[in-house]
Amino acid sequence: MTRSWGLSLLLLTIPVALVTSADPAKNIVKILRPFKSIEFSDANMRQCLWFAMQEYNKESEDKYIFLVSQIQLAQMQITDHMEYIIEVEIARSNCRKPLSNNENCVIQKNFNLEKRMNCSFLVVALPWNGEFSVLKKECWDIQV
Ligand SMILES: *[C@@H]1O[C@H](CO)[C@@H](O)[C@H](O)[C@H]1NC(C)=O
Repeated sequence: MTRSWGLSLLLLTIPVALVTSADPAKNIVKILRPFKSIEFSDANMRQCLWFAMQEYNKESEDKYIFLVSQIQLAQMQITDHMEYIIEVEIARSNCRKPLSNNENCVIQKNFNLEKRMNCSFLVVALPWNGEFSVLKKECWDIQV
């Protein structure tokens, strides 16, 4: 009950914030709720992570698709958008690029092909409008 009230309040405040930030004289993004940890099951965060991984795989030079092997941190901030900091471990899958949708990819078990990385993403989104953009993406190798 309290949760759904919180959500409807949130949905009410966002259009107001969009109107205010459209004023060019006040080009300061107002933080309505600073970064706080959220559940790893959060549907909007999951969508942002899915989007970030699409971008990651599009841009990476690797011949294989990488998958999220573990979520390590998820935080959200509300401004005129939703902002997500997501830290994950990703791993090379057995699926070669390009990915066709109905393939069942699993994490590479072949020792020679095994590769893991830690990544940190900053995704800004209006999930209910289907708007996502990855503002920061940083990945580094984990020595296996
Ligand atoms: C990867 O992330 C995990 C969890 O945050 C951390 O324990 C580990 O040290 C990281 N590894 C590297 C190489 O950054």
